[in-house]
Amino acid sequence: MAKKSISELFNFKDKIVIVTGGAMGIGYGIVERFHEAGAGVVMADIDEKVGQEKANALNTNEVPCVFIKTDVSAEQDVVQLVSKTIEQFGKIDVLVNNAGIFPQKPVLEMELTLWDKIQAVNLRSVFLTSREVGKQMVKQDGGVMINIASIDALHPSMVGLAAYDASKHGVWGFTKNFALEMGKHSVRVNAIAPGGVATEGVAKLSQGSAPAAMDMEKVMKAFLARIPLGRMGEPDDIAMATLFLASDASSYMTGKMIVVDGGVLLN
Ligand SMILES: NC(=O)c1ccc[n+]([C@@H]2O[C@H](COP(=O)([O-])OP(=O)(O)OC[C@H]3O[C@@H](n4cnc5c(N)ncnc54)[C@H](O)[C@@H]3O)[C@@H](O)[C@H]2O)c1
Repeated sequence: MAKKSISELFNFKDKIVIVTGGAMGIGYGIVERFHEAGAGVVMADIDEKVGQEKANALNTNEVPCVFIKTDVSAEQDVVQLVSKTIEQFGKIDVLVNNAGIFPQKPVLEMELTLWDKIQAVNLRSVFLTSREVGKQMVKQDGGVMINIASIDALHPSMVGLAAYDASKHGVWGFTKNFALEMGKHSVRVNAIAPGGVATEGVAKLSQGSAPAAMDMEKVMKAFLARIPLGRMGEPDDIAMATLFLASDASSYMTGKMIVVDGGVLLN
């Protein structure tokens, strides 16, 4: 393979990237970096108001950013996301499966509907988007997929996340086997395991005055104290690792997970 310069490696001009859950938090951090690197970005999110506003703000004629309202757990929405993207851009170079939810509830208090919702948004979604985008990448004979898992795919971070941890272990298992399946089509499939990242979703966990929210604040402080680098992650910390996995700088990596956690798993 011809050796590319560093600036060529991280130039995403004319590439088309789908980011699920791209309206906020880690997803939006990833959208911003791909757009800065020249990629046309499709922001797929359930929150139409925030997503549409942010996509409009980034969108230019040279470097498009479009919003497509998508519930990643709904098969029809995902099918439509992929067909609309192909219709508008003709290809998909990179898929980032980032959308996810992390309601905190002990197993003994959890209703079946909440368990099912967590599995559907965090895990079924990864199957649906991977299948639909995968068909297109096979036709193109290449592409890259990056699944945003969690350190909880490797080790539990706090009480009340058993359903979440099960879904993220699932994402990691899926990543490895799908990488095995897609290698012959030149499609690379990798995962990222973020540690604690300061996002809108995390902020919501400890908002309000209910005892559960106050307990959560204490849990978050204790979590921060365990991070060797002494700070929570920023969405951009995850975005930079995502661009690495999407770029040819990682062209010999597939079925692997990069842990981006400030060292918290060392404890
Ligand atoms: N923040 C962290 O500390 C952390 C740590 C490890 C892993 N993660 C993972 O990173 C991902 C993003 O987390 P975040 O903290 O940025 O979350 P967030 O709540 O701040 O943002 C999540 C985004 O996903 C969207 N979304 C939610 N349900 C959706 C659905 N059904 N369909 C489409 N979009 C949907 C939301 O509208 C929102 O824009 C998740 O998969 C999460 O599990 C986060």
